[in-house]
Amino acid sequence: MLHILSVDDLSNDFLYSLWQEAIFKKGLINNKLKGKILTNLFYEPSTRTSSSFYSAMTRSGGAVIPINDVQFSSIAKGESLEDTIMTMSAMSDAIVIRHTENGSARRASMVSKVPIINAGDGNGEHPTQTILDGFTIYCFNNKKLSNLRITLIGDLKNGRTVKSLVKLLNRFDNNHFNFVSPSQLKFSNPLPSKYYETDNIDEVLKDTDILYVTRVQKERGSRHNYSLSMDQLNSLPKKSIVMHPFPRINEIPQEFDKDSRAKYFDQIQFGVWCRQILLERVLS
Ligand code: CP
Repeated sequence: MLHILSVDDLSNDFLYSLWQEAIFKKGLINNKLKGKILTNLFYEPSTRTSSSFYSAMTRSGGAVIPINDVQFSSIAKGESLEDTIMTMSAMSDAIVIRHTENGSARRASMVSKVPIINAGDGNGEHPTQTILDGFTIYCFNNKKLSNLRITLIGDLKNGRTVKSLVKLLNRFDNNHFNFVSPSQLKFSNPLPSKYYETDNIDEVLKDTDILYVTRVQKERGSRHNYSLSMDQLNSLPKKSIVMHPFPRINEIPQEFDKDSRAKYFDQIQFGVWCRQILLERVLS
């Protein structure tokens, strides 16, 4: 049984093969998952992850049990994570879970009879976001994930998308990471081999191939607002790309959306394509 709990569960070969199929299929409607049922179990709010799993599953002919607001489920009566997972694994063929606590997806996998897919566990990981983030870089960087200068800005302490992405990109040759945050929101996971830390984005913008922007996570107690100006974004190299897992608060002005370097809406589209192939593999 294939659980997707961490980027560590995704080999480079698995990812390359998934991305190649995603490029070829582009979310094509089919019946590969006809008769299969997915549970979407979200203890935290979500727009993109829950909806793209829903879209991906139905594009392949499957059905979804959406538990997107756990206050209307028996969780509100005090049901344990383990009992909820045992219950939903009796009714469905895979469970996508987002939870407030780091390690919760792994806990779920200990009792589940069906594959568990981690859709974000506290400030832990968000491996399926990394599948689509890696795919975005693969698509816009000539199918290569090496020799990159990656600048990550925002809440690097709590941002699970950042933690998963750094894990992935650190596997590839000659990648250099710039971590940009105030000291209280510094990247806290094991550091990659080549990195630079600063609280001043202007130091590194000109030396950036990929700018990965994240919001400050108020729900995890972070207090710090920032927004990049058009002048700052325009100082990025012409061939760079700007990514953001979203939701965006005010980190990137809407005016930048029409710039060819802005790839955050491509990321959202790619999320559906990649999650569809992932579900077809996990459920086959
Ligand atoms: N990127 C992401 O996880 O977005 P949602 O919180 O809307 O799912």
